[in-house]
Amino acid sequence: MAISLKGRDFLTLKDFSKEEIEYMLNLAADLKAKKKAGILTKDALHGKNIVLIFEKTSTRTRCSFEVAGHDLGMEVTYLDPAGSQIGRKESIADTARVLGRMYDGIEYRGFGQEIVEELAKYADVPVWNGLTNEYHPTQMLADLLTIREQLGRLEGVKLTYMGDARYNMGNSLMVARAKMGMHFTACAPKEYFPNQKLIEECQEFAKISGATLTFEEDVKKGTEGADVIYTDIWVSMGEPDEVWKERIEALLPYRVTMDVMKNGADDVIFLHCLPSYHDLNTTIGQKVGEKFGLTELEVTDEVFESEYSRVFDEAENRMHTIKAMMAATLGAFEE
Ligand code: CP
Ligand code: NVA
Repeated sequence: MAISLKGRDFLTLKDFSKEEIEYMLNLAADLKAKKKAGILTKDALHGKNIVLIFEKTSTRTRCSFEVAGHDLGMEVTYLDPAGSQIGRKESIADTARVLGRMYDGIEYRGFGQEIVEELAKYADVPVWNGLTNEYHPTQMLADLLTIREQLGRLEGVKLTYMGDARYNMGNSLMVARAKMGMHFTACAPKEYFPNQKLIEECQEFAKISGATLTFEEDVKKGTEGADVIYTDIWVSMGEPDEVWKERIEALLPYRVTMDVMKNGADDVIFLHCLPSYHDLNTTIGQKVGEKFGLTELEVTDEVFESEYSRVFDEAENRMHTIKAMMAATLGAFEE
């Protein structure tokens, strides 16, 4: 039977089968090719309206939703962290019921996963997770598309994530690998491994897909033969500045360097969700760098700027994959 995701929420890849994820990736590849060929898709969802709620800042995710929305012919409302009553003067449930009457889809970026789940529970339209503390599923679609484009395959690909694997990126990368039959290694101090409950859930997905999940403290072992080496900033949005000290002490040995990359497979690539502190050209990078005597943090500038790095292909794919995900859940391109 043909796959239809019409009316579905997009809160975490845990809720989707391998076939449904492949369906969104194939649609994204098709929409990307159309865009490159100058073929417009503005009729696809013409007349629909979407709202983007951002309680945390963003460059890629916001711009991707806006450009993708416009490319599909939709009108887009952006609510910035100070631009709505959410959670302060109006409950999530009430907000969901109001926005669900006005809009055809709701994107939410913010704090706990339970917030986006509550929005989804009370809104009668698709709700899309644009990043929570726990998950970043739209990033996963972009990463999968990029890996497929760059390596020509997904199944069996070995991805090593270095850094804080307990947070949105580590969690989501593990879920996505487990769903897609890939090999996931979290390479970090053991306190930074994902929580046991999520590991157990992912082990169940892995039984179906053939994925493997590995947790490794040793950098050499953890990165040996990896096809993809992935990292993220060490302190995420919403975390206090005080945690920089403990993160640097714990994660400095897990910085992605040229030695780490050379330990991977012959055609290894480097990915990063971005933003990145690979140099001192940001105010936070500069402040933290000066305080701790560092010129680069989670990845060296040499790796970031090297032939290994596919981070800007990955960033571009945010837009194509978000477009596909919205089109699919809003029922565009269905017969
Ligand atoms: N990767 C990502 O989500 O980037 P933004 O925070 O800029 O949206
Ligand atoms: N872990 C990062 C991801 C940014 C895309 C954060 O939550 O800030």
